[in-house]
Amino acid sequence: MYSEKVMDHFSNPRNVGEVENPDGVGQVGNPVCGDVMKLTIKVENDRISDVKFKTFGCGAAVATSSMVTELVKGQTLERALEISNQAVAKALDGLPPQKMHCSNLAADALHLAVDDYYKKTGKKAPAKSSKAKAKAKPKAFTKE
Ligand code: FES
Repeated sequence: MYSEKVMDHFSNPRNVGEVENPDGVGQVGNPVCGDVMKLTIKVENDRISDVKFKTFGCGAAVATSSMVTELVKGQTLERALEISNQAVAKALDGLPPQKMHCSNLAADALHLAVDDYYKKTGKKAPAKSSKAKAKAKPKAFTKE
């Protein structure tokens, strides 16, 4: 049912915990199941120098959380905002269809952490920031 990569990241999750004095924090709950993920980042020279996660959720949520930290470590903030939930699931060699919703936590929490960094520092977020995207959406969709 699960790929070897999912089982590996579930059994040996990478970057578990919280970074000290984080520059950005993103927390997101999954409306489908109520599971929660918190992701903290440290930023140096517009790059994510450290990232850790805490996930209160299922095995797929733990695996996607672990994978997103691996994908984003050392990357620029701009690149971090480009990482999608689908990309995280793909990097794990896929998830079973009924578990795809679990992948929503990982990239969403990452994007919120990056947004939080921009908010705290007062720096200008790139146009593809999730906040900027939300603003660009018609009002009827922002309440979802
Ligand atoms: S069942 Fe909740 S995130 Fe997977």
